[in-house]
Amino acid sequence: MTLEAQSAAIVAQFDYTDDHVNSAVNEFRRQMTEGLEKDGTSLSQIPTYVTGVPNGTEKGLYMAVDLGGTNFRVCSIQLNGDTTFNLTFTKVAIPRKLMVAKTAQELFAFLAKQIELFLQKHHEDHFEQHVRRRMTMSSPDGYKDEHVFRLGFTFSFPVQQVGINKGTLIRWTKGFDIPDAVGKDVCALLQDEIDKLHLPVKVAALVNDTVGTLMARSYSSPGKTGTVLGAIFGTGTNGAYVEKLSNLKKPLSGEYDKTTGEMVINTEWGSFDNQLSVLPNTAWDVALDKASPNPGIQMYEKRVSGMFLGEILRLVIIDLLKDPKVSFFKDENSSSNDWKSTTNIASDSSIYTQWGLDTAIMSVAAADNTPELSTLRGELEKQLGIYSAGLDDAQAFKAIANAIGRRSARLSAVAIAAIVLQTGKLTDSANADEPIDIGVDGSLVEHYPYFRDMIYEALRAIDGIGEEGAKRIRIGIAKDGSGVGAALIALVAAGMEKRLTTADYLGELRSNAKSNKLTVVPEDDAAQD
Ligand code: BGC
Repeated sequence: MTLEAQSAAIVAQFDYTDDHVNSAVNEFRRQMTEGLEKDGTSLSQIPTYVTGVPNGTEKGLYMAVDLGGTNFRVCSIQLNGDTTFNLTFTKVAIPRKLMVAKTAQELFAFLAKQIELFLQKHHEDHFEQHVRRRMTMSSPDGYKDEHVFRLGFTFSFPVQQVGINKGTLIRWTKGFDIPDAVGKDVCALLQDEIDKLHLPVKVAALVNDTVGTLMARSYSSPGKTGTVLGAIFGTGTNGAYVEKLSNLKKPLSGEYDKTTGEMVINTEWGSFDNQLSVLPNTAWDVALDKASPNPGIQMYEKRVSGMFLGEILRLVIIDLLKDPKVSFFKDENSSSNDWKSTTNIASDSSIYTQWGLDTAIMSVAAADNTPELSTLRGELEKQLGIYSAGLDDAQAFKAIANAIGRRSARLSAVAIAAIVLQTGKLTDSANADEPIDIGVDGSLVEHYPYFRDMIYEALRAIDGIGEEGAKRIRIGIAKDGSGVGAALIALVAAGMEKRLTTADYLGELRSNAKSNKLTVVPEDDAAQD
């Protein structure tokens, strides 16, 4: 079989038709309902105890930390109260050995240390002069917590939340594996390490990155109806949306404000359809799952998110390289190579190692429209040690990579569509002219060319959405939303914590603003790493 025919056959295996998409939307909605009714289901549907979204008028200086799949970020965020904010942050890569540390304490001690370094660098005055518990006549116990940063902790893993700053880890995802942490309260783990360093920081809120993204988007682009969904398409994937309390049938143990009639739900959609009733399942999906640290779970994530797409592609390529009937990245002699050389793969090429193909090269492949695919061929050499790849090889690589990327985007549309349909906003005549706002973040949606266009293409083919519905759905990037969102939830939590009435609370915000107790880091100080 020619390489072209073989790659077309592979591409066909990644096809996810309009019919597939429609059945998956129905199944997604069924699993959503199931998850709202009981625990232990495929889609976890975790209640977050966040009962409203911001409207852009929130104010104050807060801290946020974000433990994602790859990096740890520490930020301080000045919310200006006019839908704008100023963000200062530092980012460090999480050392691989800490992702699989023996004890949770090792990881959380590292996180607390980064908070200390951030405070020293960016809030030195505040850090040195803080008086943790100042004596005062104005409170009954004679002390008042002052100069303590309220911190929102974005923890991008599945957590059983039992209150706004309390939640136990259900399972690790995205290459993390520290069994000792499972079942423990991650806020307490972080607060313990912060306290060991005597830092003026209180972990006030626990937030999934999708919840943070939803909050941040709602703060920055408030409309008449608010943002309905915050989603991440990055190393991992997940979404959080606003659900009616009346649909949430499983028992809630923690305290929450019932007046809004709504609660943000963290779907943990990475584990949608672990049973594979509607998800596609090629031989390469099977192989990837088998060799992963968590076989049988996060099955949707393993077909959609950045951590896995490169690995699926790598497994396809390895199979093609092994196939004696196909000439892929090999030439009989220089006459069969358009650059008149012969292709060589370095013996230590990372193509031979698990996770050795970075998904980023798929973006290069999708974006390269040069006649000879010379950008892609340059990257194959640089990143994978594949020298003098022929045009036909690069074309096959690009076609297969695109098919995997396109399947991911169409699967992403399934989750988005199911949630839009669940909110009922498309058929709500009272707000028929309002856009249905969705905030997204993550490397895939930000950097993969035409990812959003491919999502829209699938949305148009979904029953109940169609051309008209797709036009109303506004998918916008909320970059670094999780940090800003965590700060917003820390603000809400600070209000709840003190059990202030709305009037008291607003009064306090005003007097804080007047006395200007917290210093703001000038914008040019912001680390842009
Ligand atoms: C985690 C989610 C997270 C998502 C995006 C998934 O692996 O389970 O909690 O929101 O990645 O970071």
